[in-house]
This record gives sequence, structure tokens and C-alpha cells, in this order.
Amino acid sequence: MRQDEIWDAETAERYDTPGRGVFAPEVVGPAVERLAALADGGRALEFAIGTGRIAVPLAERGVPVTGIELSEPMLAKLRQRAAIPVVAGDMATARAEGRFSLVYLVYNTISNLLTQDEQVACFRNAARHLDPGGRFVIELGVPELRRLPPGQDALVFHAEDGYVGVDTYDPVRQHLVSHHFTFGAGRQARVSRCPQRYIWPAELDLMGRLAGFGLESRHADWTGGEFTTESSSHVSVYRLP
Ligand SMILES: C[S@@+](CC[C@H](N)C(=O)[O-])C[C@H]1O[C@@H](n2cnc3c(N)ncnc32)[C@H](O)[C@@H]1O
Repeated sequence: MRQDEIWDAETAERYDTPGRGVFAPEVVGPAVERLAALADGGRALEFAIGTGRIAVPLAERGVPVTGIELSEPMLAKLRQRAAIPVVAGDMATARAEGRFSLVYLVYNTISNLLTQDEQVACFRNAARHLDPGGRFVIELGVPELRRLPPGQDALVFHAEDGYVGVDTYDPVRQHLVSHHFTFGAGRQARVSRCPQRYIWPAELDLMGRLAGFGLESRHADWTGGEFTTESSSHVSVYRLP
């Protein structure tokens, strides 16, 4: 499965859920506020900008935002929403013009790069775009391997009326595939699948160091909640000297 096959026209059409799910104001608002503060009056670059879920309100908040995005259908949806400059390409390698005080990569998307080499390249690409003292912010889930009983390699991560999500793990390759089953009253379900390379926080910090970053802060969420052994995700801020 290639990323451009996953983020196709059908996915792009269904991605935005205005006011609900990850588009809910209580999800978007704190992220935008924190990113605006971390941009510190400078320009921001979003890796994998998608349809602009975060970039559009951040730009409306007064932060000049640029994006890098692989999927043409996702980009087309963004262009319908706002005139944000975007480079079509791979966030591990593509270059956007100029320098930035903030690069950010949210919603677990560094995991969409399926090798450690590409993930390290992504850190290095962030560093290349930043001014001295600039920040790279990553929002990422903590791998849920503690929930996997011996001999089992699948976990239901969410179930509600009309939707079941199941992750299948390959711990040797450090890969998982998220399977999303959406259904109505009938027998048939729509299935979409997304492969990822999961990353432990410690490995992420090492990737940052390889690219010249130090870890400035790690919290459990965008509002500064404490990161603990029970946290299911984190917002990590890396900073160049
Ligand atoms: C979960 S969506 C996140 C979009 C947006 N950042 C958000 O928070 O709503 C993942 C996005 O990453 C993009 N993507 C996946 N791999 C990429 C890559 N190597 N370079 C750039 N974009 C990529 C997909 O096309 C998709 O738009």
C-alpha cells in the first residue's frame, strides 16, 4: 500500500468532519493556540498538511503557514478551503521556500513513513527549514503493546455504532496496520486500511538528536497535561540550538 493510494480522492472526500471528531473545536482549538505560541511570531510549516484541519485556523489566527503534502486529492480539498501555499511532495525530502520558526507534524503522521530511515530523514528535513532556535513539534500516539496479550497481535482500538477500528501488530518490523470498518444496518461494511511504523518516545528523541535537536518539552496533550506511563499520546517539542 502506497501513501498516495491510501490518501486517494474517496478518502479526501470523507476526511473532513466539520465540528466533529478531530475537527471538533475542543480538539483543534488547543492545538492551534499552542502552535501559535510556539511559532513565537515567526512563520510555520506543516508537514503533511492534509485538508488544512490545523493549518487553516492557525493561519486565521495570524500565523503565516506553509504546507508540504503528498496527496493531490487532499491538497485539492485544502485549496477549496483556503489560499495556503503548499509544496506537493514527500515531507521527508521536499523543500519549501524560506525559513521558519516552527515546523509541526500532527495526528500521528510521522508514522506514515514506514522506515526508520525515512523518519530520521523527516527530522533532518524539519531542521533544514528552521531558523536557529526553531522548533519541531510532533503529536504522536504511544504504541499500545502493553495491551497485547501473549500470542495475540490484534487490538480493537475503538468501537461504536457503525464503526470498529482494529490495529494488527508486527512487532518484529515495528509496524502496525489500522483497519477501519464502517457500516450501516446491512451486511456490508466499508474497510479502509493504513500501515504505520510506530515509534517509542525514546526512539523519537534519538531521531531528534541525530538531526541536531534537543527535547524542549513533552506533554500528554496540547494543554500541557503531564506525560505519564498511562498517557496514550504525546506532544513533543524539539528545538535547535
Ligand atoms: C492523518 S492525515 C493528517 C492531515 C493533517 N495534518 C491533519 O491533522 O488533519 C495524514 C496526511 O499525511 C499525508 N502524508 C502521508 N505521507 C506523507 C508524506 N510522506 N509526505 C507528505 N504527506 C504525507 C497524507 O496524504 C494525509 O494528508
